[in-house]
Amino acid sequence: MLADKRILLIIGGGIAAYKALDLIRRLREHGARVTPVLTRAGEEFVTPLSVSALAAQKVYRDLFDLTDEAEMGHIELSRAADLVVVAPATADLMGKMASGLAGDLATTLLLATDKRVLIAPSMNVRMWEHPATQRNLAQLQADGVMVVGPGVGPMACGEFGPGRMAEVPEIVAAIGAALGDGPLKGRHVLVTSGPTHEPIDPVRYIANRSSGAQGAALAGALRDLGARVSFVTGPASVPAPMGVDVIAVETAQQMADAVAAALPADAAVFAAAVADWRVANAAGQKMKKDGTGRPPMLEFAENPDILARVAQMGEGRPRLVVGFAAETETVVDHATAKRARKGCDWIVANDVSPETGIMGGAENAVMLITDQGAESWPRLPKAEVARRLALRIADALA
Ligand code: CTP
Repeated sequence: MLADKRILLIIGGGIAAYKALDLIRRLREHGARVTPVLTRAGEEFVTPLSVSALAAQKVYRDLFDLTDEAEMGHIELSRAADLVVVAPATADLMGKMASGLAGDLATTLLLATDKRVLIAPSMNVRMWEHPATQRNLAQLQADGVMVVGPGVGPMACGEFGPGRMAEVPEIVAAIGAALGDGPLKGRHVLVTSGPTHEPIDPVRYIANRSSGAQGAALAGALRDLGARVSFVTGPASVPAPMGVDVIAVETAQQMADAVAAALPADAAVFAAAVADWRVANAAGQKMKKDGTGRPPMLEFAENPDILARVAQMGEGRPRLVVGFAAETETVVDHATAKRARKGCDWIVANDVSPETGIMGGAENAVMLITDQGAESWPRLPKAEVARRLALRIADALA
């Protein structure tokens, strides 16, 4: 399952570093190519020679290895991989990753990479349970870092509890999942997300309050199931997930063009809050007060309805087209009518009345409208809504 996958393995300085040697062996048995990086602390636990012998590759040891940029620079090294794995991930490494430090080769690679990162934490139980480590863990997860383990059990230091590095077969399975060996493997899914900005003049625009959180979570959940995701996003306030193809746009027209260019897809999900109107007489220069006290008149033109276009495109239409509906009243009726009007397969409807706190918030309570009727989901974190929706999409495409 890992044939020819390139894995950059960062070995931190913990007693579990010896398991990294076995991990290298197992990964190579599965056909993966492992490029090892050993931190200074890691060298206290395993020797560079044993690491490079098992990997059958040069082991990279610190930034000075890379002064020979002719060989491979750190940016290239961090991007040539399909996946970056940190095992063991010590409390110190996790803290540095969470705060974006780049004082040595390992942390520089982690900051420079554009690939997904999987960590296998390993530390004493008190260190694992310390609020600082838990804070770092939460930050890393929010940044899209995947985590395998730690396990619970007796530890080398004599204590018992969570903190043991996950066992090698578990890490190998997590690497397989991270590399897209899920139910959406081989599928291409398009996701639109975020608001659009419609210019009034070069410095002013009309926008809306969408944060892009639900679209980003959904793109991440689809990626986790193995899909290749094209993520067409307006100027959102939450970052795009790692490991998806990001196409950044500003206006609805640009979003429509980007969507057309990203097709064909097996499924398309339209989570963006697209402006229905653009300013038809947007000024080429900054608009100035003319001294008369009369405000300028803005004329509006209708934007393309991207969802309706794709849902009704006939040949080349994705097998599954999903729209979102943000409503403030009679949600099911409006959303059911919207599903019919736009011609999409499903509508994910939510009540965005200010008192729900959903728009810009961390949770969502949705109704899924399909040809079978309306299904009401409980109020859940946006990441969980995303996970459930991604699983439904995987089912529909199976
Ligand atoms: N949408 C789109 N392109 C647009 C407008 C909307 O792709 N120009 C998509 C959104 O991404 C969302 C769905 O259509 O998936 C619902 O958008 P909404 O703005 O609620 O639909 P409207 O037709 O504008 O309906 P209403 O006027 O009731 O809000």
